Amino acid sequence: MSSIAVFDSGFGGLTVLKQLQKLMPDEKYIFYGDSANAPYGEKSAGELLELTSEVCRRILEKDKIKCFVIACNTTTSEALEKLEERFPDQRFVGIEPAVRWAVRENPGKKILVLGTTATIRGKRLKAQLEELKGRAEISLLAATGIVPFVEGQNPDREKFEQYLREVLRPFRKDTDCIVLGCTHFPFVREELQACFDKKIRFYDAAIQVAEATKALLEADGCSFEKDDQTGRGSVLFMNSDPGKIEKEKELLKEYD
Ligand code: DGL
Repeated sequence: MSSIAVFDSGFGGLTVLKQLQKLMPDEKYIFYGDSANAPYGEKSAGELLELTSEVCRRILEKDKIKCFVIACNTTTSEALEKLEERFPDQRFVGIEPAVRWAVRENPGKKILVLGTTATIRGKRLKAQLEELKGRAEISLLAATGIVPFVEGQNPDREKFEQYLREVLRPFRKDTDCIVLGCTHFPFVREELQACFDKKIRFYDAAIQVAEATKALLEADGCSFEKDDQTGRGSVLFMNSDPGKIEKEKELLKEYD
């Protein structure tokens, strides 16, 4: 039984793995967090391609892979096409900020898209915005302080909450909803909500990615093979910083 590989710069990808497991509980997963190289959000496209190619190679040493789920908006934005060229025999599914979904449900409203610097500046997001022009009031913010907090690189909670309040102040009064354009951000949903006057609806593309992965595997006839029970429903945790593996397990268990 081959595995579904899920990778990210670190813990963020666990928010996508959780949705995949909900939808496809019998599949065998490999999760790879590249915590030694996080954050990805400030890196160049060339650096990201080299780092993520290495991640794919390491995963391929472990098992046969039926699909790579790039649980990272930054990598999807900056390196997905090149990864597909470098690994032509592999299937890839990426993740993009759920702006279309947010606009569909909030026409004419004020939507704030949060992401890493690379995602916010990237051409994939630009293309979405171009397509959705005039349908809502969309603002963009590169929230660079969130990933280091989630990764435990800057663990001071008080400073983090102060940082969030400061960067979100201009949006505090009149934001209707937020697009979580980085897979690390769902871990701080409550801290984000605390910075706004009214109740915010959050849009996270993880569910859509899980659905797209399931559809792709079904279309290719390679979803869960009932005859082969090897590793059924398991997760193999990997990390470029092996000291982070216990934390990956803990976060996956806690996150819902
Ligand atoms: N979680 C990733 C994303 O969705 C990368 C965050 C980072 O390492 O900067 O963009």
